Amino acid sequence: MTVTDTTRDTGADTGSDTGRGTVPGAATRALLAQNDAHVAHNYHPLDVVIAHAEGAVVTDLDGREHLDFLAGYSATNFGHHHPVLVEAARAQLDRVTLTSRAFHHDQLAPFAAGLAALVGKQTVLPMNTGAEAVESGIKVARKWGYEVKGVPDGQAEIVVMAGNFHGRTTTVVGFSDDPDARDGFGPFAPGFRTVPYGDLEALAAAITPRTVAVLLEPIQGEAGVLIPPAGWLPGVRALCTAHDVLLIADEIQSGLGRTGRTLACEHEGVVADLYLLGKALGGGIVPVSAVVGDADVLGVLRPGTHGSTFGGNALASAVGRAVVGLLATGDYQRRAAELGARMRARLDALLGEGLVGVRSRGLWAGIDIDPALGTGREVCHRLADYGVLAKDTHGSTLRFAPPIVITESQLDHGLDQLERVLADLRR
Ligand SMILES: Cc1ncc(COP(=O)(O)O)c(C=O)c1O
Repeated sequence: MTVTDTTRDTGADTGSDTGRGTVPGAATRALLAQNDAHVAHNYHPLDVVIAHAEGAVVTDLDGREHLDFLAGYSATNFGHHHPVLVEAARAQLDRVTLTSRAFHHDQLAPFAAGLAALVGKQTVLPMNTGAEAVESGIKVARKWGYEVKGVPDGQAEIVVMAGNFHGRTTTVVGFSDDPDARDGFGPFAPGFRTVPYGDLEALAAAITPRTVAVLLEPIQGEAGVLIPPAGWLPGVRALCTAHDVLLIADEIQSGLGRTGRTLACEHEGVVADLYLLGKALGGGIVPVSAVVGDADVLGVLRPGTHGSTFGGNALASAVGRAVVGLLATGDYQRRAAELGARMRARLDALLGEGLVGVRSRGLWAGIDIDPALGTGREVCHRLADYGVLAKDTHGSTLRFAPPIVITESQLDHGLDQLERVLADLRR
């Protein structure tokens, strides 16, 4: 099956030529009011209520179609309602969904074997959310530090990067430098040192005999799709090897096809000790995350030392198996690379025409809007008016991460709308 067999090509009829305004219908207004009254306000969504989705197209309650240029922060890399993934979930729903890890079921072992092979490792620790995978990676690294490296108990240090985003647990936000994520949630766990992203000298200076791991995103997603200088990641690998430190690559957003490779680390020929995976691993259907590494590291976990009631459940494992099956073909990685080149050429052409910065790898781009034209949020509102859903980050930056199954004409259509919005703003 080719990648685009799975989606309808609605590029031509998605969005109108006149812009549709954002005046919501009665059902949408009622839903938004209910949301306001009863859902905690920890997000600030656009006023679009999605009722149906297929491929790269989402349809709102008022029947309007939009192009999804966010793909659930890469959770729907394979598009909405992918037939292979939905069928895997359906079939498993009819068999068994959860046994707990107190007993075996017949989906986890093949899922783990497939995922390990896909990323070139031996062992999989299954979890649910991305933040849990990060927490698990931290626990494994500390235990490895005490039991294998010989760091004195309670003194393990982990080096993290400025501008990081690794999730929302108290430990993880404790080493964030984003005040919104961090302020008001302390006290925080000790044992983390922060160095500037992309700065090898600072990292070398931060490593001590107590350092057990370096935790990094090979590309920083939430920070605005920041790509470190070429050579930095191999340099980090060399430092980690030289100082007997684990390299933990958080590929929760960058991994599983998004950048045109299975793992973003591959672009620099780097092999991490532990990979943290999530988001797309659940096919946009169920939360599935994992820590993937070799047995000499993950082997420090023994019965009772770590776990999760839902981690590795039968439904999640069945969907994860199907995701691994899609990625094993290589079609999605190739497609993301091809479409990414197309997207990049279009975005580069807008530099000086409303954009002041473009960064991308594969089908993943961070674009900086000229601050004189408006905020990223304002641009997102205008894009939504023209039928394209995207997400701003850090003031004037937008992230584009359409589902990899998006067609050329849908992608072009979405980028046409960006061009239109920028032209409107420059008028
Ligand atoms: C790089 C990275 N790590 C971890 C997470 C946390 O994942 P989750 O929201 O599933 O906990 C995210 C989420 O955006 C992420 O981008």
